[in-house]
Amino acid sequence: LTLEADDHMAAEILEQPEAATRLLEEVGGRIATGALWNDLGLPRFDRMRVVACGTSLNAGEVIGSALSRLGGLAHSSVVASEAAGSVVEPGTLTVMMSQSGETADVLRALDESPEGFPVLALVNNVHSTLGRKVDAVLSCSAGPEIGVAATKTFVCQILVGTGLVISSLVASGRMDTAQARRLVNDLYLVPEQLAEAAAAARALLPPLVDEVRGAKGFLFLGRGAGVAYAAEGALKLKEITYRWAEAYPAGELKHGPLALVEQGTPVVVVDDGDPRLAGNIAEVRARGGRIITIGRAGSSIEVPLSLAAPCGPLAAVVPLQMLALGLAVELGFDADKPRNLAKSVTVD
Ligand code: F6R
Repeated sequence: LTLEADDHMAAEILEQPEAATRLLEEVGGRIATGALWNDLGLPRFDRMRVVACGTSLNAGEVIGSALSRLGGLAHSSVVASEAAGSVVEPGTLTVMMSQSGETADVLRALDESPEGFPVLALVNNVHSTLGRKVDAVLSCSAGPEIGVAATKTFVCQILVGTGLVISSLVASGRMDTAQARRLVNDLYLVPEQLAEAAAAARALLPPLVDEVRGAKGFLFLGRGAGVAYAAEGALKLKEITYRWAEAYPAGELKHGPLALVEQGTPVVVVDDGDPRLAGNIAEVRARGGRIITIGRAGSSIEVPLSLAAPCGPLAAVVPLQMLALGLAVELGFDADKPRNLAKSVTVD
C-alpha cells in the first residue's frame, strides 16, 4: 500500500496519533475537573443540537451519541444547509462544528439561528469567521490540514468534543469525577490505538484493495457509534476514489440495501463487537458479498477497541481512511486533488 507520506492526505493520516497526543496534552487535564466546560462560560444545557456538514457532521454524530450514552441527554445532528427548521428550545446548546470555520452553509445556519440561544463553535481555527461570531469557541488543535479529504481534524474534533461532553456532565453534577477520570483514561489510550490501527491496516489492506479494485459500489455498515464511522468511511471512499458508497446502520440492511448485494459486492463492517452484527454479516455472505470487517479480534483488520470507550470504535477510522487512499492510489487518482471538491466550501 503506497502510504509513504509524499501526499498530504497520507501524511495527515499517519500524523493522527501525534495530533491526538498534542490535543490531549492541551485539554486532557481539564476534562474530569469540569474546567474545560466551565472555562467556556456557557449556561448549563439539557440537550445538544450539532450543526455541521460532511466529515464534521459525522464527528458531531459521535459526540452527540456520547452525550446520550453517558449523560442520558437528547441530541440531534443537523445538516447545516437544512438547519433552518430544526428545533431550538430553552436548554438547547447549539454546537457548530467546522474544521475551517468558513463553510458557507454553517455560517448561514448561524445567521439564521434564533436569537438568545447559546452557540459554541468547535473549529480548527479559532480566528475563523465562525470562531469570531459565536458565544464560545473550542479548538480541535489538529494543526494545518492541507489534504482536501479531512482526516486528522475528524479525529481531533471527536476527541475534544467527547472531552467537552464529559466535562459538561461533571460540571452539571450529572457525572461523578471518578467516572470522568476513567473515561479520560480511555481517551489517553487513543493515540496508541490509532498507531496500532495504522500498522494493522498497512500490513493487511493491500490484498483487500487489490480484490475490490474493480468494484463499482460499496456498502458500509455499523451499529451504535459505529454508524458514524461507517458514514465517514463511505464519504472518504466517494471523495477520492469516485466509487459509489453508502453507509447504513446495519439493522437497516434488510429494509432495502441488501438488494444491492451481489457476488463480490464489497461490504465494509465497522465491527465494535455488537453481537447483532453477526446476523447482518451472514445475510451479506449468503448473497455472495465480500465482507471486510474492521474492529474486534478476528476481523479482517483488527484494531484496538474498548466497547465502553466514550467515542466508540474511533481507531476503526484509520483503516477506513487508508482503504479509500489505497484504492485511490491503486486506481491512479490523486487523493490530494479530488475532482469537483474544494477544501473549504464558501458558497451555499
Ligand atoms: C470531507 C470533507 C468535507 C468537509 C465539509 C465541512 O473529507 O472534508 O465533507 O468536512 O465540507 O467542512 P468544514 O469542517 O470546514 O466545515
